[in-house]
Amino acid sequence: MAKKDFNDRMLSLGLARVSEAAAIASAEWIGRGDEKAADQAAVNAMREQLNRLEISGVVVIGEGERDEAPMLYIGEEVGAGTGPEVDIALDPLEGTTLTAKDMPNALTVIAMGPRGSMLHAPDVYMEKLAIGPGYPEGIVSLDQTPGERVRLLAAAKQCTTHDITVCVLDRPRHEDMIAELRKTGAAIRLITDGDVAGVIHCAEAGKTGIDMYMGLGGAPEGVLAAAALKCMGGQMWGRLMFRNDDEKGRAAKAGIEDLDRVYSRDDMVTEDVIFAATGVTDGSILPGIVREPGHLTTETILMRSKTGSVRRMSYRNPRQKKA
Ligand code: FBP
Repeated sequence: MAKKDFNDRMLSLGLARVSEAAAIASAEWIGRGDEKAADQAAVNAMREQLNRLEISGVVVIGEGERDEAPMLYIGEEVGAGTGPEVDIALDPLEGTTLTAKDMPNALTVIAMGPRGSMLHAPDVYMEKLAIGPGYPEGIVSLDQTPGERVRLLAAAKQCTTHDITVCVLDRPRHEDMIAELRKTGAAIRLITDGDVAGVIHCAEAGKTGIDMYMGLGGAPEGVLAAAALKCMGGQMWGRLMFRNDDEKGRAAKAGIEDLDRVYSRDDMVTEDVIFAATGVTDGSILPGIVREPGHLTTETILMRSKTGSVRRMSYRNPRQKKA
């Protein structure tokens, strides 16, 4: 039988529904102090909606290895099994702690592309660097110091280093980097979690105020962020970081041979993809879920890299009725 086409246009609305369903399910767990319950609710809902789509999907970025995640594990087959062969990268709740504590920027996130379109990143750290669109290719790189990156970006933006804002995960491992960034006079937006949103911020610098993202975060989140930037424009690089042999083993299992490789955005996401994210808690990219008597309202960003189209969709979901 002929290979069915990846009809990104037709599939995109379905993808938005998957993202919305996960957000709606997590809504009742916002601010309840229970990260696991919030995550589980999002996972269940995302899986159920995904299985309604007419795709033959495989999860390539998921909740973990098969033996540690019962649902949406890496390699799980999803979808109705009737449509095109696609790869799925997902994070049903990006920012479980943010959700449990009702802090900004928790999202549900999912990307879909043709089979083989996304890097099978193991669950290790990735050193990340991202900037928005409109800059010369390769103006900053992972081989530069944080200070050099700020100076080069400021020159390209024709502003001073004081006018540059860098987003960084607030972690002890970033202390030296933060100290060096401070010396340049750049502002630093410290985030406690959620570096998919952290990277996406760069693509809408005018709105979010963030020019550059850097630091170590999850590698799976890196691929999801690369998928978003491929749709919105912007440059990104990632290098996997291994703390021990077990983590190197995870890379080998994922088929990665060159452990020192620097991946560009398009090395991580090699073909055109679609991407959807729904706000769970209020953030700079998306407003969070609004709960009112009788209904919930969500906002989703839905994008296609083929066209560069970016849609924002508001969805009013009547409570107690089936989606
Ligand atoms: P979860 O939603 O799975 O908790 O991940 C949140 C997150 O902040 C990611 O956005 C980020 O990539 C990663 O955790 C950072 O890891 P760590 O907390 O170990 O620094």
